[in-house]
Amino acid sequence: MSVACSKIILFGEHSVVYGKPAIAIPLKSLFTEVRIENSENIEINSDYELNINEQNNLKNIINLILNYLDIKNKNISVNINSNIPVASGMGSSASLSVALAKSVSDYFHKELSPEEISMTAYKCEKIFHGMPSGIDNTVIAYEKPVYFVKGKKTETVKIGKPFTLLIADTGIVSSTKEIVLDVKKEYEKNKGLYEKYFNGMADIAEQARIAIKEGNIKLIGKLMTENHRVLQKIKVSSSELDNLVETALTNGASGAKLVGAGRGGNIAVLAENNKNKIRNELLKAGAADVIEELIE
Ligand code: MEV
Repeated sequence: MSVACSKIILFGEHSVVYGKPAIAIPLKSLFTEVRIENSENIEINSDYELNINEQNNLKNIINLILNYLDIKNKNISVNINSNIPVASGMGSSASLSVALAKSVSDYFHKELSPEEISMTAYKCEKIFHGMPSGIDNTVIAYEKPVYFVKGKKTETVKIGKPFTLLIADTGIVSSTKEIVLDVKKEYEKNKGLYEKYFNGMADIAEQARIAIKEGNIKLIGKLMTENHRVLQKIKVSSSELDNLVETALTNGASGAKLVGAGRGGNIAVLAENNKNKIRNELLKAGAADVIEELIE
């Protein structure tokens, strides 16, 4: 059995697609498990419903991994369990891709480095998403906070001082592929303006990288909120996400932002004090779920 964690992007979603730096962290409490068994033919079982399109995507992905490993016997049964909400900014597809790459390579006794797992999962992500930056598969394959720039060597980030995040789910699903395409259309129409927004996010991510290393929690929170304000400007937030962010901030959070593609999914809240109050207020404001994760 192989396990892959989930993730959140703490700084720089969307701008990362345009070559700007971003920071992502693994979340251990939400994960995908994959168990491979011998079978008469290729078979996929999962604890959540897969439509025909998803079944076919998964078959393509499994074939891609088997081909990469140069394995001729393709008759395996693939059993998937996951507690990661899908299409919610938590990297459910990248987690599945990494768990598949790990479990198939383990089953056939082929050792893959985190780089190879990440690279294989990236090819799978392209089947799911079209034009992924690669940050999701990277942070999940390394299982460490990363400072990521597309096409450059990934750097892991040391957490100077542990901090607690509350992750609140709007309960609304959204398609990363569609939102990334919408942003691309807007970018093509307003290149100058969007370059300005993406450079702004790059600047925030650079400051955050230092703040995280130095354990400057107050500044991390402030930068998270600033990042959310730019994400609003590029039109990937929603009234539900904004409502949860404002609820967290008015109840004493040090910072809050949407995480992932947006228009649904989750927000991350940096909660130094008032954790229980903020959680209760988020639930009252309509969050479908709130989980807590210590980042260390
Ligand atoms: C998705 O988790 C984050 C985006 O930046 C897309 C990507 O990086 O591939 C929206």
